[in-house]
Amino acid sequence: MTTDETIKITGQYVLKTYGRKPFAFENGKGVLMYNLEGEEYLDFNSGLGVNALGHCHPVVSNIIKNQAEKIIHTSNLYHISSQAALAEKICKHCFGERVFFCNSGTEAVEGALKFARKWGNTQEKPKTEVVAFKNSFHGRTFGALSATMQEKYRKGFEPLLDGFAEAIFNDTASVDNMVTDKTAAIIIEPLQGEGGVNFATRSFIKYIENVCKEREVLLIVDEVQCGMGRTGKLFAYEHFGITPDIMTLAKPIAGGLPIGAVVTGPRVWPVINPGEHASTFGGNHFVTGVACGVFDILSDSQFLKDVEEKGEYLAARLGEIAKKFDSIKEVRGKGLLMAVAVDFNASDAVEYFERQHILICTAGPSVIRFIPPLIVTRDDIDRVVETLERFLSER
Ligand SMILES: Cc1ncc(COP(=O)(O)O)c(C=O)c1O
Repeated sequence: MTTDETIKITGQYVLKTYGRKPFAFENGKGVLMYNLEGEEYLDFNSGLGVNALGHCHPVVSNIIKNQAEKIIHTSNLYHISSQAALAEKICKHCFGERVFFCNSGTEAVEGALKFARKWGNTQEKPKTEVVAFKNSFHGRTFGALSATMQEKYRKGFEPLLDGFAEAIFNDTASVDNMVTDKTAAIIIEPLQGEGGVNFATRSFIKYIENVCKEREVLLIVDEVQCGMGRTGKLFAYEHFGITPDIMTLAKPIAGGLPIGAVVTGPRVWPVINPGEHASTFGGNHFVTGVACGVFDILSDSQFLKDVEEKGEYLAARLGEIAKKFDSIKEVRGKGLLMAVAVDFNASDAVEYFERQHILICTAGPSVIRFIPPLIVTRDDIDRVVETLERFLSER
């Protein structure tokens, strides 16, 4: 099939939920992708944060091959050794004590909301409500969408679920206003991705942790986009020195295979009993077998240090460009999830980059987002920053 044929048949048979770009990629190696006609592109989107190890990483490809020849799925009627091993690895690296596995980010958030509700309903005075933040993005299913405080995602799907209040990101007073005796949980992305790449301040997250302690509320960190090494720490909450009660993970954990995880701490897991939540595919041999190998690479301290340094390099290089062009309003983000806020339509930049065979994306109408594979090199970063500079001087 050619790209044109793919576009035509997609239009005819695939439900149009996506505004797709006119590209169809067929191969990938490291940070590079090749379209159906064999043309090369530099991938600075990493499948929206999924391909942390780039495309067809040899270790990942090998584990996939081996696992595919052993066993793929048995269901959670039985024990699954690779699921057990992955849960142990995750818990040994964070606050978590028990993990629930599912298949996507939105499903992980859904699980987190259910576990928080269950916890709230076991309190002396039941607590059932959730506080989420302006510009948050937690997913597309009804619970996750109800916690997603962006009109563009909610519009047309009302009524959403009751019991979700909106506070302002990085604004402590608004948290005070929104938390009530009925609040079961506060859900926050420590680094908002889809909402514009906004990194929470340390004092804000600390404040929230304190509110949660004092008012008997659970703290849920949604690390679907910012977790698993993306910010230079294995988990983004580590930047703030806090201990959440629940953490959601997804995108990169299984090297491109669908997976989600809800990590629960000591206040939460004891209230969940067999039969109260489930997923047919969740944590099957295939995905968790692969994820164990991916986790070992992403959690390696040298790997994380490298991500941190490359993130600092990208931030510094973008900072240099920002000094030269008034059209850049801000450089923000953390690690290898960085963005520049601009005073023009960010899609213009994306299209310019695409003409140079570099794939980037937006995070809102005036935010250019960079979310490359974590294996990116300084040379790749230079190429992207130089392209941005050329674009800004030519426009
Ligand atoms: C922070 C966050 N939570 C949840 C989700 C939903 O994940 P998924 O698309 O896998 O359902 C996303 C997706 O971008 C996300 O960035």
